[in-house]
Amino acid sequence: MESVFIDDVSKWRGAQRVLANVSVRVMPGEVVALLGPSGAGKSTLLRCVNHLDAVDEGRIFVEGTLIGYRQSGDRLYELKEREICLQRSRIGMVFQNFNLIRHLSALENVMLGPLNVLGTPRAKAAVRAQELLQMVGLEHKASAFPSQLSGGQQQRVAIARSLAMDPTLMLLDEPTSALDPELAEEVLATIRALAAQGRTMMIATHDMALARDLADRVIFMEAGAVVEDVPARQFFESPCSERARQFLKRLAPQARAA
Ligand SMILES: Nc1ncnc2c1ncn2[C@@H]1O[C@H](COP(=O)(O)OP(=O)(O)OP(=O)(O)O)[C@@H](O)[C@H]1O
Ligand SMILES: [Mg+2]
Repeated sequence: MESVFIDDVSKWRGAQRVLANVSVRVMPGEVVALLGPSGAGKSTLLRCVNHLDAVDEGRIFVEGTLIGYRQSGDRLYELKEREICLQRSRIGMVFQNFNLIRHLSALENVMLGPLNVLGTPRAKAAVRAQELLQMVGLEHKASAFPSQLSGGQQQRVAIARSLAMDPTLMLLDEPTSALDPELAEEVLATIRALAAQGRTMMIATHDMALARDLADRVIFMEAGAVVEDVPARQFFESPCSERARQFLKRLAPQARAA
């Protein structure tokens, strides 16, 4: 079964159609990069997958579970906030701006979800959080507050925080774009390790090096529509559409070498 099945999804913001009949399947363990110009709908699509944004048409399934709605006959009824939170608890979301809680230490930030949502005992949550900080290379920063961490370190704490919920799926929205190249490389190494563990990930990014390095598949979007959905190698070496060729030429001339 697919990890994610986006079935003919459309979404409007006012008169603008920001997602236009998007259909995407992501298999377990796959790393999918969402690429495309600014405003293409990448963030919106990721936000729809955990129902931070609601779709207007179509349906999204994660691990076979319909997200955000209950279906009865032909009709969909939106779930209650509590039920939506429960669905979200299995989907890790990492944002560009980290969203850490300022007055909690790195360790406490990572512990928060398991404590509050899963009801994990405090001691057990602390042990697990420490393990996860180690995994992202920050065991020595457990007691530091976000303001005492670099951007790359904060983003790695944010990744550890998502992993604490043991997600079946990770959604990453521009995880490196707020970072200078060196810090981005730290975060990239962390994401690479997750990919090697077989984590299913959808990553929206403008970082072509990240996409080339990590993605199995590229979904290239423009104006809310999927223009290409191809193996990453094919996308970078011989994109099908003229639009993708222009995009690559402008954004990453080096990607056209070879
Ligand atoms: N909160 C909002 N209210 C109104 N329109 C929005 C909102 N968020 C996004 N949009 C519009 O929806 C469209 C898709 O935006 P989205 O953020 O999904 O694009 P994106 O591909 O992630 O772009 P970027 O690469 O700049 O992050 C854009 O036209 C944008 O202007
Ligand atoms: Mg975006």
